[in-house]
Amino acid sequence: MTQALDTQKTIAIAVSNLNFSYPDQANVLDNLNFTIQQGERVGLIGPNGAGKTTLFFCLCGVLSPTSGGVQLWGKPVEVGQFRPEIGLVFQNPSDQLFSASVWDDVAFGPENMGLSPDEVKSRTQKALHLTGVTELADRPPHHLSGGQKRMVAIASVLAMHPQAIVYDEPSANLDLRSRRRLIHFLQASPETLLISSHDLDLILEVTSRTLLLDSGNLIADGSPAEIMGNRQMMLDHGLEVPYPLE
Ligand SMILES: Nc1ncnc2c1ncn2[C@@H]1O[C@H](COP(=O)(O)OP(=O)(O)O)[C@@H](O)[C@H]1O
Ligand SMILES: [Mg+2]
Repeated sequence: MTQALDTQKTIAIAVSNLNFSYPDQANVLDNLNFTIQQGERVGLIGPNGAGKTTLFFCLCGVLSPTSGGVQLWGKPVEVGQFRPEIGLVFQNPSDQLFSASVWDDVAFGPENMGLSPDEVKSRTQKALHLTGVTELADRPPHHLSGGQKRMVAIASVLAMHPQAIVYDEPSANLDLRSRRRLIHFLQASPETLLISSHDLDLILEVTSRTLLLDSGNLIADGSPAEIMGNRQMMLDHGLEVPYPLE
């Protein structure tokens, strides 16, 4: 009995008949259906304008679907409702860093969750340590390098202890060393991960399943080698086979 329960998969994210239109742009997400199991590491690829960021905003309750919806651990996402199970790392870290110091930015989430000062302090210290930015705690975030800002933005999400984290183009604008550090960090992350990126080598190194999105349609869902190694399919959707799969 226990064994049967252990092998049972838990669905972390369930997207059902999800449609989204902006007021001036219809069918940006066109009837999407997929699930992500707890602990899975999934890459989301697709050309510019495919709908990746819009999908992430729907998953996290930033945007309300036109129809259909998203469930996190079986509970429907409602727009504007804070869901501590999921964290979103924005494409541009400056969109999520606004405090006078790195410490204040990372402590902001746990403080707003109504946690005790001791718990806020302990979570902030731990998140800064995990992302390797403890020594930046007193610095103003807007003075940091792109790589440092990225890790602080990740720390501010980790401090809320989400079980699933959605990363939108996390290696955009990083130099080689910062990118390598980010890849090692993501490889060691225990959370359920959904990562959108044009950096297909990062997707290949970090994830074990690939979703290909184009014009709001889910074109393919499978193993990274099967999808990113399919030259014709990649070309058809404005992408190239990454070097290790050539
Ligand atoms: N705020 C907005 N208002 C209207 N259209 C938008 C808005 N944001 C994105 N779009 C459009 O929605 C489509 C999907 O965009 P987006 O989700 O940003 O794609 P991706 O992240 O894959 O590049 C694009 O056609 C884009 O122009
Ligand atoms: Mg985007």
